[in-house]
Amino acid sequence: MNDAKEEIKSRLSIEDVVGRYVELKRAGRNLKGHSPWGVDKTPSFMVSPEKGIWHDFSANKGGDIFTFVMEVEGISFKDAMEKLAAEAGVDLTKYRGGDPNITRRKLRAKEALELATRYYQACLARNRNVCEYVFYKRNLNRGTVREFKIGYSPASGKALYDVLTKRDFKDQELRDAGLLNQYGKDMFRDRMMIPFIDTTGNIIGFTARIVGKGEPKYLNTQDTILFNKSRFIFGLHNAKESIRKNGFVVIVEGNMDVISSHQAGVKEAVATSGTAMTEQQIKALSNLTSDIRLAYDGDEAGVKATERAIMLAGDLGIDLTVISDYHGAKDPDELIQKDPKLWQQAVEERVPAVDWLLQKYEENLNLRLAPDKKKYSDVALKLLGYIKDEVERATYEEKVAKKLGIEVEILRKKGTRLTKKLEESANSKFYKKPKTTIIPDHIKKMENSLLALKIFGGVTKTKIPFDVPEEETKIDELELIFSSDHENIKDPDYEKEAAELMGRYNAEYKKERIKELNEKLSTVDEESTEYDKILREITDLQKS
Ligand code: UTP
Ligand code: MN
Repeated sequence: MNDAKEEIKSRLSIEDVVGRYVELKRAGRNLKGHSPWGVDKTPSFMVSPEKGIWHDFSANKGGDIFTFVMEVEGISFKDAMEKLAAEAGVDLTKYRGGDPNITRRKLRAKEALELATRYYQACLARNRNVCEYVFYKRNLNRGTVREFKIGYSPASGKALYDVLTKRDFKDQELRDAGLLNQYGKDMFRDRMMIPFIDTTGNIIGFTARIVGKGEPKYLNTQDTILFNKSRFIFGLHNAKESIRKNGFVVIVEGNMDVISSHQAGVKEAVATSGTAMTEQQIKALSNLTSDIRLAYDGDEAGVKATERAIMLAGDLGIDLTVISDYHGAKDPDELIQKDPKLWQQAVEERVPAVDWLLQKYEENLNLRLAPDKKKYSDVALKLLGYIKDEVERATYEEKVAKKLGIEVEILRKKGTRLTKKLEESANSKFYKKPKTTIIPDHIKKMENSLLALKIFGGVTKTKIPFDVPEEETKIDELELIFSSDHENIKDPDYEKEAAELMGRYNAEYKKERIKELNEKLSTVDEESTEYDKILREITDLQKS
């Protein structure tokens, strides 16, 4: 794999790879541009062509062409590798340690799906009835149908099978692609065909809607060697460019909602294809943007899905909001059919997901009655338990207490009791300890600058207690940080700078540690020795 990496690196220049996403201008030996992730007022993105690395000072990340493509596209290392290999004209199978047999099977399955898509597209053009459904009933225009490669699977049981076997595809290859049913015939019949396209542009499966009424409404490709339901995000291939550019994503429930939304100009829409959102999916999206807007239906399922998203959001630093004003329509597609403008406005008028849920919880309750107050506080406290930030949580606790007309202390007491009960009931073996807080960005940044001073500024008087990283690219990155830190400083005094920065670092670190300890404190029993220990560490830190 390393050989393949080197081969690809030698064939692609970092300027070209990065230059496709960021406009770069020369700045001495390096190149500079605006961060593809943030709104930096001054260019904060640097590339060193000599070293083949990049660093983003506003987002505080960096690496080589592979990490760049991973980050900017929100894809895995493997996918980035495949993408860049294709661009560089490097044949990865030669390098792969993996099973060449599987690689070949995947390739054949992809080819079969690609051909199937083209066949279905041709069938759509020939079928007046289905054209009417697609173009008039569903109101899709030609551009959209082309963009999403929509087609039609004929009703006869072996239409696609015959086409593909004539092209030398074997049954097993079609089965790998998910194109055969249990009887060895066409999986999809008499349906509008919508391909699943992965972020590198490969077709990996289909969702197929019945034309008109019938069961099941949608038939989807099951997990195959290419398609993984819990990872796949429908529409991401078409949406990622807009998500990155405009800094937000809209998650809708149905695949047709995605397609309609794109046609209505809201090209940041994606869907999790009818399944509950998974951790992998929200992680992949949070790599692209922290502004995640949910546009689920307002029913029970929508509430559950929103709760799940809040639970998964956890440490990811996501700003989760809910788009809820559908003007009486049942889903985004229906709203768009009314008027695309209404949908364009709706994605701007969003409310914090927690506020939206609290509102929902209240809907069927009468909060003047004690039993309903209990019910409301049960669900509300469970929800607030997912909120990691103390300030945010405290603010909501006050809001809920006010709503119930009780003291916030009473609510907190109940919260502590419920958490304790939860911990006790969860078998201690399975109970996961709350994760320690991740080091915040600004502290990480200081660490990098200090390390850079240690390595490239030759600082010795101030003790900088971080280890020099082992990887070459990490050190190259530190050099870039070092030169950027001192770019406009005449006669820099590295020792003095290090002393000052170390002072600030210690203060910030202390603040974070106290915050973390306080968080931990709220999860342990007040009577325990653990509690005393944490309390002591906090007071010690405060004194120091
Ligand atoms: P919906 O029933 O809300 O679909 O299911 P929709 O998008 O509004 O469909 P139209 O407008 O009637 O065509 C939402 C999602 O649930 C999954 C699909 O992924 C769909 O996009 N689903 C639904 C299935 O997988 N199978 C079904 O039979 C129904
Ligand atoms: Mn619909």
